[in-house]
Amino acid sequence: MKYTVVLPAAGSGKRMKADKNKLLLELFDKPIFIYTLEVFQRDLNCEAIWLAVKEEERELMEDFVKEYGITKVAGFAVGGAERQDSVRACLEMIPECDVVLVHDAARPFIDAKVISRLAEEASESGAAIAGVRVKDTIKKAESGFITETVEREKLWIIQTPQAFRYALIKEAAAEAFEAGFLGTDEAMLVERLGHPVKIVESNYENVKMTTPDDLIYGKAILESRRQEEQQ
Ligand code: CTP
Ligand code: MG
Repeated sequence: MKYTVVLPAAGSGKRMKADKNKLLLELFDKPIFIYTLEVFQRDLNCEAIWLAVKEEERELMEDFVKEYGITKVAGFAVGGAERQDSVRACLEMIPECDVVLVHDAARPFIDAKVISRLAEEASESGAAIAGVRVKDTIKKAESGFITETVEREKLWIIQTPQAFRYALIKEAAAEAFEAGFLGTDEAMLVERLGHPVKIVESNYENVKMTTPDDLIYGKAILESRRQEEQQ
């Protein structure tokens, strides 16, 4: 299934505690967001890439896109204060298509097979998001004391990509904007419309580069992939 991808890249990476947007930090020799772009550049089903960037970082990011031969970037949108604003800025610019994927530029290790399943599912049912099963025991607590142990079998850690039919995500984004609703992912906006959202099981390597320890894990993933390629 063909799709257009929207990559929010206009954050500041406060939790990474670097002196710049974490997406510009290098893992070995390459900025984080370039790894993400390369996945979609390689994926034959990806028809176009739209990036939400900070105004002041646009030129720099555009230069990297050219340097690394990412030819599928169709346009840049100026990101907003919240991630949802940045995604909306891209959604307002993209031409009509069948399926739209939204993916954090900060998740460079996304697997092409997961992308493919998400696009298929979204085409069939309207909305599909990536997630992994919770490995730990999760409890709720108040004032430091347990109030409940949550049934783990029903719990999922939600990631991106999140894939939607074009008309559905446009409607959901517009409704959330009008209502002044701020969600932590796109699925929440679609859930508000009462539309079902399917979970596609992803993997734990699709981690978001958020805090400094994630960079250590990220490098380890790259190392192990390189070793696999050499075998
Ligand atoms: N993002 C964005 N616009 C924003 C905030 C975030 O486009 N206003 C993007 C980030 O660049 C990132 C993705 O959304 O690719 C996921 O957000 P997150 O991991 O929270 O990144 P930051 O907001 O940059 O980091 P932090 O929350 O630690 O400041
Ligand atoms: Mg953030």
